[in-house]
Amino acid sequence: MKHLVHVAALAAGLLGGAAVAVGDEDHAAGEIRKYREMLEDGNPAELMEMKGEELWRTARGPKSATLEACDLGRGPGVVDGAYAQLPRYFADTGRVQDIESRLVTCMQTLQGFSFEDATRGWYKPGSEVEALVTFVATHSKGQPIAAPVEHPEEARMLAAGGDLFFRRSGPLDFSCATCHSLEGRRIRLQDLPSFQVAKDAQASMITWPAYRVSQSAVWTMERRLIDCIRQMRWPEPAFTSDAVIAIQSYLQHQARGGVLQSPGIKR
Ligand code: HEC
Repeated sequence: MKHLVHVAALAAGLLGGAAVAVGDEDHAAGEIRKYREMLEDGNPAELMEMKGEELWRTARGPKSATLEACDLGRGPGVVDGAYAQLPRYFADTGRVQDIESRLVTCMQTLQGFSFEDATRGWYKPGSEVEALVTFVATHSKGQPIAAPVEHPEEARMLAAGGDLFFRRSGPLDFSCATCHSLEGRRIRLQDLPSFQVAKDAQASMITWPAYRVSQSAVWTMERRLIDCIRQMRWPEPAFTSDAVIAIQSYLQHQARGGVLQSPGIKR
């Protein structure tokens, strides 16, 4: 663990540098790859997975119940492979849901939490929702991304996600595609995946949720997307809102077939 912290600090320092010449960027990209390989032996996200598993199995909330009967789409209590098949339609809520949204539903229905209590502080490092997502996602490691597009609502959300991805708006007139459609595009040292290219979309989506070295925290996909939207100066979408779920339907579709390696490690 000591070694791990050292490597993380080193990497954070390395990435802290702002303007770097192009040649240095290639060098830095190589360094980033190296530290990723080193950290893969011991991803700090594993602590979040353990925390999530404990939360899953602990009786909590007004109903003093565990989450072990939660239906994540593959039947009550089935965690294995569930993350790989989300977002998907759930008949009980009449909504297409992603993992965050579905976990919140179970915290409400099984444990009796209010929406506010279930989502309070979701964005804080080490939050309960992020821990639970990490636990569930880890149980899809080795599974191909296969969010279903069978129910009409699933098709509708996928189409809406595609629209949102390409729609230019806000004071900067940006769309997601402005930054994420060109192969090999980079802002400073950051590799920006193009979600138009299957192998790039897969390389991104198979490694979420991810421990972010620059943040010293595990981020889930909702967190990532809400932060990108904030950078675009669009109005910030609510946690678990349809807009954020629709974008994920689109991204998962673009990355379908990619074999999950969650949790990942990112800048
Ligand atoms: C102003 C440019 C910009 C726009 C516009 C933008 N992003 Fe991003 N996006 C980034 C940057 C920068 C990163 C972080 C890359 C890094 O940290 O290595 C990122 C990261 C991501 C990632 C994670 C990539 C990975 O590391 O696996 C996803 C997914 C993503 N963005 C989706 C979106 C979506 C969807 C939208 C539209 C709602 C969007 N982004 C809009 C700049 C942008």
